[in-house]
Amino acid sequence: TDPLEDYDLSRPLTSKVGLRQGLTDYGDPHFSLFLRKAFIKAAGYGEDALTRPVIGIINTHSGFNPCHANVPQLIEAVKRGVHFSGGLPIDFPTISLHESYSSPSSMYLRNLMSMDTEEMIKAQPLDACIMIGGCDKTVPAQLMGAISANKPVLPLVTGPMMPGSHKGSRIGACTDCRNNWAAYRAGVMDIEDIAAINDELAPTVGTCGVMGTASTMACITAALGLMPLRGASAPAVSATRLRIAEETGRNAVSAVSDKHRPQQILSKESFLNAITVLQAIGGSTNAVVHLMAIINRHPDVAGTISLDTFDEIGRKTPLLVDLKPSGESYMMDFHNAGGMPALLQILRPLLHLSAQTITGQTLGELIDCSGSHDSPYSRQIIRPLSDPLYPCSSIVVLRGNLAPGGAVMKVSASKDRRLLNHTGPAVVFSNTVDLAHRIDDPDLPVTADSVLVLQSIGPIGYPGMPEAGLIPIPRKLGVDGVEDLLRLSDGRMSGTAGGTIVLHISPESIVDGSVFGIVHDGDLIRCDVEARILQLDVSDEEIARRIAERREAKEKSAEVQKVKKRGYAGLYERSVNQAEFGADFEFLTAAGPSSGD
Ligand code: FES
Ligand code: MG
Repeated sequence: TDPLEDYDLSRPLTSKVGLRQGLTDYGDPHFSLFLRKAFIKAAGYGEDALTRPVIGIINTHSGFNPCHANVPQLIEAVKRGVHFSGGLPIDFPTISLHESYSSPSSMYLRNLMSMDTEEMIKAQPLDACIMIGGCDKTVPAQLMGAISANKPVLPLVTGPMMPGSHKGSRIGACTDCRNNWAAYRAGVMDIEDIAAINDELAPTVGTCGVMGTASTMACITAALGLMPLRGASAPAVSATRLRIAEETGRNAVSAVSDKHRPQQILSKESFLNAITVLQAIGGSTNAVVHLMAIINRHPDVAGTISLDTFDEIGRKTPLLVDLKPSGESYMMDFHNAGGMPALLQILRPLLHLSAQTITGQTLGELIDCSGSHDSPYSRQIIRPLSDPLYPCSSIVVLRGNLAPGGAVMKVSASKDRRLLNHTGPAVVFSNTVDLAHRIDDPDLPVTADSVLVLQSIGPIGYPGMPEAGLIPIPRKLGVDGVEDLLRLSDGRMSGTAGGTIVLHISPESIVDGSVFGIVHDGDLIRCDVEARILQLDVSDEEIARRIAERREAKEKSAEVQKVKKRGYAGLYERSVNQAEFGADFEFLTAAGPSSGD
């Protein structure tokens, strides 16, 4: 191209590629491009570079996020791929969220990260954007933002960490964080062992090495057709991970076209496939909330999929992948057994094969050209349909007066199956502080039949729906060998955790009219997973009386303390919707106000 063309005022700037995108400021597009070129040249680019499609690369590296510690190497490999295909790669930062360093909860900040992602993709002159994420909330935040921004996007995950080792047993974050800590709490493990285990739980960079939320979202992203299939499981420290990054760079340059925008690629069928994969991998319950938020960003799909869709698909889908917390293996094993290509081949009859992918091929075509992975080893980790780990319904949706908007349970991670059809008296904790004070009280009136109830950890209640739903077993029961209790909350739990745990109860306890908010100690609670029922066995009259009583008390105290929260906390509290809709900000959803662009 002729470098003088851009400065020739007699010619219109027709191409919209690269730096020529969005030249609306100053009312003079030639001047706007002139300035853009002047400033980017400060980074050392020549005229030739500036005529190429610009591939943005979202850099979520952070010293507080070891799950993303390999991002610099991934960016280098991505850039190589972009260069090979003739594009200009430019990386830029957005917020990074690590599970352990995001107070009050990473979920509280997920929507902020999605806004950061959306606005930066929209604001900058990108033709396509590679989003490097990994840790639990980052991939959902990026997908939410990307669908709303609707430029071609290519997610790339950092990949799982390797397992560690303790006294000859493999261990890994974070299923083994929890079960070993529970053993230490119960007094069956000593302080030397628990300290030694602490050194080995996260032995390399990368995301948690079991089927937690990060791995679940990685598998779902591949199933959505946005990422190379092997990209879901290649270890963070592997050469394969770098080659996938390079491939993603190449793919990004060929994805520069309107038909590769996420709202065009992703259809209802894509999301049904994602839910099928979620059930087949025994994925994290958190993915239910994230998927609802992602789906509700898509103008053509929002409203066509609800929690009931997850339950319906679950009834048809067996649990095939033998990974912790539902099974025994680690992500590295899943990868070596063939990973997502192997799993999707087995799931073929349950998938919508005509769903589009970022490569231009359908999902069916992508599966077809991924080769065969069948071997006795592979079949141990990724079971055939005829020999599943669990016949169906790994994740179920419960309803009843306690959860008219739904509640979620990962049945496959239950440790005491007797509890899947159980009625018992409630032991109620009004919030996490109350829980911390009383859970190990020797006088706590709790037995193996009790139903533990934790209130005030919903989207608004905490705020940010923390992963406190895995209520610990009271020590006095733990020392007697009790390993599981029926536990209920309006919060979440880590995807790496297990037990008979009902989560995401909607509406949350703090909302006016919530039945979950008026449960008292000793009330009988009935959970029947087979019938999908979660019921408070208290009369409707008594429930109405308690709700009215609570409303009155709240109104009185609200008059005294009508303080509006400032900043993001205020925005969050005013705008977040309930878990059944994804705990997104109402104004960001496809059903919310129109963006005007
Ligand atoms: Fe980042 Fe588990 S803490 S993936
Ligand atoms: Mg997690």
